[in-house]
Amino acid sequence: MLLDGTNITLGTCYYPEHWDRSIWADDLTRMKEAGISVVRVAEFAWSKIEPREGEYTYEFFDDFLDLAWEAGMRVIFSTPTATPPAWLTEEYPEVLNATRDGDLIRHGSRRHYNYNSPVYRELSANIVERAARHYAGHPAVVGWQVDNEFNCENQTFYSESDNMAFRRFLKEKYGTVECLNEAWGTVFWNQTYTAFSEVHVPRRTNSGAVNPHLELDYIRFISDSVCSFAAMQADILRQYIKPGDFITTNGMFGHIDNHALTRDNLTFYTYDSYPNFAYCVDGFQAQEPFKDRWSSRSLAEVRSISPKFGIMEQQSGANGWNVSMEAPAPRPGQMTLWTMQSIAHGADYISYFRWRTCTFGTEMYWHGILDYSGRENRRLKELREISRKVANLQEAAGAVYEARVAIVRDYDNQWDAEVDHWHGRILRPSEDALFTALQQSHVMFDYVYLDDFVSVGQLARYSVLFYPHPEILTKQRVKLLEQYTASGGKLVVGCRTGQKDLRGFCVAEPLPGLAAYLTGTDVPEYTLAAPDEADVVINWDGVKLAAPVFRDMLAVCGEDAQVLARYEGGCYAGEPALVRNCFGRGEVYYFGSTFDVATVKTFLDKLSVKEPLALLLRLPESCELAVRRKDNTDYIFVLNYTKEEAKINLLFPLEELLGGMREEGEVTVPAYGVKVYRTSCMEREAINRGKA
Ligand code: GLA
Repeated sequence: MLLDGTNITLGTCYYPEHWDRSIWADDLTRMKEAGISVVRVAEFAWSKIEPREGEYTYEFFDDFLDLAWEAGMRVIFSTPTATPPAWLTEEYPEVLNATRDGDLIRHGSRRHYNYNSPVYRELSANIVERAARHYAGHPAVVGWQVDNEFNCENQTFYSESDNMAFRRFLKEKYGTVECLNEAWGTVFWNQTYTAFSEVHVPRRTNSGAVNPHLELDYIRFISDSVCSFAAMQADILRQYIKPGDFITTNGMFGHIDNHALTRDNLTFYTYDSYPNFAYCVDGFQAQEPFKDRWSSRSLAEVRSISPKFGIMEQQSGANGWNVSMEAPAPRPGQMTLWTMQSIAHGADYISYFRWRTCTFGTEMYWHGILDYSGRENRRLKELREISRKVANLQEAAGAVYEARVAIVRDYDNQWDAEVDHWHGRILRPSEDALFTALQQSHVMFDYVYLDDFVSVGQLARYSVLFYPHPEILTKQRVKLLEQYTASGGKLVVGCRTGQKDLRGFCVAEPLPGLAAYLTGTDVPEYTLAAPDEADVVINWDGVKLAAPVFRDMLAVCGEDAQVLARYEGGCYAGEPALVRNCFGRGEVYYFGSTFDVATVKTFLDKLSVKEPLALLLRLPESCELAVRRKDNTDYIFVLNYTKEEAKINLLFPLEELLGGMREEGEVTVPAYGVKVYRTSCMEREAINRGKA
């Protein structure tokens, strides 16, 4: 079984419908020979099962599954609902999504449906049931993928079905239109409703601005729609799958509570990892200084959604729709690097997108392992080499990513930051800075989403939590943070903490609202950073930190709080900018501004968490460090994303698993190279004791 902690497995995405069936058997044999043992199929192949409404043909995939079984290949079968067929959208245009102005988004690309059309739900339930009933018992099938990439390409829905469903969602949530008016503050600008039928999904307005509380609930509604559409499918699949077979979906895209989606419907979540977006020729997503290393951030997020996770689509070739997203072919070594990046972060299933590059269609330049002809090539050779390396890593299967620091998030704040510019301006740069500083300081971190399912025990695994700007707070979340801190944890928050409630209203209490007791801080005044006060700094024991974007003027409240740093320059000169509150056995830091990289590094230093393996190895900022732990053994990954070789220094001899050699002292990690060292925890403790 995939992801059962006993193996790291390689797979690929295959489209039998794109190829003459005479090549299937040979393709399967060559996959096996290269170390691939699982293929995913069918996610866009509705017409191969139901070519016309009510007419079913199962032979196509029957034949493929039989061949796969003969070849010793296991199959992940997908429900094909991401691309409804033309007969369907033509007959039932109400299944289509619409623009904000209500124009239908037409057939011809993919994901051209809305989640709430009753007809689409019915026809989807039917195809899922037909596929599951027919194929789930096949011995080659080991698991199911629901749909493909919910919310990819489009995360907003404005069809009439969505409008109706939004009203039902609100009625369920608020009961009466009076409560809805209250919750959205509709008295402002005379938006008051007298009936739910007057409410609409966001539409074009005169100023462009829409009621922010409506918008926040609208995103929650989209997420709810995705989750219930997935639940409808998962409920059907569960009735037919063989014991031990799994249900998953692949992502990860916005406007979805992926934690709830996974918890309620899936065995585990899978991620589609395309690090090469960082190399797009038009600069698309070229995040400096990290480029493809930036994908480690998404991998950390996926680990939070699903501690056990796989990669359903791992990049193996150049990007390129014929209309956008063009990027060069992966350089020699990069396919290995990206595979190891995923494994380092905890993925035990890696499935390459795709086996062969399609010769036609929008994705004809989105390359897979093989080019159009299928001839032997460099990437296939690299895949064989990867298989050999992964064989050396099998003992690490099931090992857990080792983080002592976490970045705390929650969906309310993430989504509020999308609809509220003030919030977005502070959250995005702070989260970017946190990732950059943690990576460069080689501090492994997890994301933790504060929801009803998180326990203090889970938080207590981390010695430090960064919750950069929790504008929206609830009593329950504050209580959790209080318990975490009281039992010895260290919590760092930034400006605008506690400003809002769950509706997205600003609270009418003194700031930081619900966080006042926890932080021992009062915020008598605040301001956006004015352009002519860009040189304002925060002086923390002589270290000058930037105070970009936004500034809270702070004051201490409570006996256990003390001012650690003050503003220099600007209107707040001399006023407190950083307060530390001793809370139980722990500490809370309230930083009055947003975080840049240097500020985060200063915190990591002061809180003694940077370079956690400094006694064992030294490595430059340009290399990522990741550790997975299992049964008292640590697997230490060093990943070099650059085109220059990197020098690292091993202070003790260590076994390197990919090359099978013992290494010590100065070691060269080649361009795009990876090292994986094994060490026992006992060895590490002895080293720590010896050096202490
Ligand atoms: C996505 C999809 C695939 C394919 C690739 C490349 O992640 O799931 O079907 O479109 O991107 O574009």
